[in-house]
Amino acid sequence: MRFDIFTLFPGMFAGVFDDSILQRARAAGRLEIATHNLRAFAYDKHHVCDDTPYGGGGGMVMKVEPIFEAVEKILGADPARRPPLILTTPQGRVFDTAIARAYAQQPHIAILCGHYEGMDERVRALVSDEISIGDYVLTGGEIPAMALVDAIARFIPGIVGDPAAPHQDSHATGLLEYPQYTRPLEFRGMRVPDILLSGHHAQIEQWRRRQALKRTWEQRPDLLARAPLTPMDKNFLRELGWSGET
Ligand code: ADE
Repeated sequence: MRFDIFTLFPGMFAGVFDDSILQRARAAGRLEIATHNLRAFAYDKHHVCDDTPYGGGGGMVMKVEPIFEAVEKILGADPARRPPLILTTPQGRVFDTAIARAYAQQPHIAILCGHYEGMDERVRALVSDEISIGDYVLTGGEIPAMALVDAIARFIPGIVGDPAAPHQDSHATGLLEYPQYTRPLEFRGMRVPDILLSGHHAQIEQWRRRQALKRTWEQRPDLLARAPLTPMDKNFLRELGWSGET
């Protein structure tokens, strides 16, 4: 899978893409990431990419021409033959597992990182999607772009060691994940639950399911409305005080 990222700050991406799972995926040829500096596509000799807003008011606005130039040069002039282009902006739809999974089906994705106080509205004619990573405002769209690449890449087969893991993690099942433990058996008075040492796989599965339900009920009860729940799950949740419909 290939990502093309258009940004004013390509240096921000080093480190994140050069380490750990994403670096391994790149080295193995499963993931290709190219960053493109928008400044290189500005017309003037100072490579200016922002300007004051028409109508006055404070702040600076990202100029439209370098963005069109960059996208058309790198992705091609024919919009029908370009990959999806995502604009990272706090005004977009809020990113989640379903969006990450859907984009993981694509062979090629482009991301445009917003910056300054905003972008010339005409940039919207280029983009196919607008995504926010949450209801807060960051200084720019680079960190959101990194979050998108990371979350999408996890759903590409072969990138995460255990192929089932991304589909069992918190959110992927509609619930938060159950608690995990590894050695030592006891640490500062905190012991691993006995059930995990019992060797009874069916009972361990039931315990994990219940822990996932309990944790979701305690931390993110809003998720329960959309989670696929069995009649047994619902009975258990009702014991905890959940009053969802049957
Ligand atoms: N740019 C600034 N804040 C953002 C956010 N929350 N999501 C996506 N892009 C952004």
